[in-house]
Amino acid sequence: MPDDPFDLKIQEYFRGVDSAGPREYDSETGPRGIFVPSNLEHTSVALETLIERGIINPRRPFVDLSSGDGRVAIQANAVYGLMTIAIEESKALIAESIGHWQNLQGGIVSIIPLVFVEGDFSKDATYAQAGIKFEDVGTFFNFSTKDYELIADQVADRSPPGTVFMLYSFGANKLQNPALKLVKQFEFEKGFDGHPTKATLDVYKKKKQIRNPFRR
Ligand SMILES: C[S@@+](CC[C@H](N)C(=O)[O-])C[C@H]1O[C@@H](n2cnc3c(N)ncnc32)[C@H](O)[C@@H]1O
Repeated sequence: MPDDPFDLKIQEYFRGVDSAGPREYDSETGPRGIFVPSNLEHTSVALETLIERGIINPRRPFVDLSSGDGRVAIQANAVYGLMTIAIEESKALIAESIGHWQNLQGGIVSIIPLVFVEGDFSKDATYAQAGIKFEDVGTFFNFSTKDYELIADQVADRSPPGTVFMLYSFGANKLQNPALKLVKQFEFEKGFDGHPTKATLDVYKKKKQIRNPFRR
């Protein structure tokens, strides 16, 4: 909830993290790059709206595909009560995420699981590490990674109807798969602190398969 005290605390905490300036991330499998995080005000507005409208099913796991320093996963779990899996291929960012979570928790143990997994989101083995199957995921969240279409196509092929795919970007990324229906679009004036570009968050839902009774 954008005005929830713990949500505000998380946002303030990560503003402090960001005040040190842009960071490079390192990964054993992937290239180095500049790490750009989501704006937590945007994700909070989106999560609240989608849960309230019944688009996100809070009883099914939420996965951040490439969770960076863990901020969206922490918000989804601690503020919105979603069982959350944060997948990130950078060992350093996973370690950083766990540190942030410990700092924010202040010794309180959450009863709703939040699992940080070091791995590639396109591999089934990564989901198995978190004790779930790809098909169990109720909501996928992705911000600006190169293989998001690959996962969206997997959702279209394998996930049950109703599975949600949240695509957050600076406006350019879209999904074209006909099995995924655009159900909600958010537009935000600024990408993240100091970034002048508009951000969009497009929400897609896996369609029900309608069988034609006259066709075999
Ligand atoms: C833009 S950051 C994501 C930040 C985070 N989701 C957020 O919203 O704050 C992109 C991250 O994607 C990770 N990444 C890219 N491809 C990946 C893959 N196939 N599996 C897991 N992580 C990946 C990178 O290591 C990098 O940390």
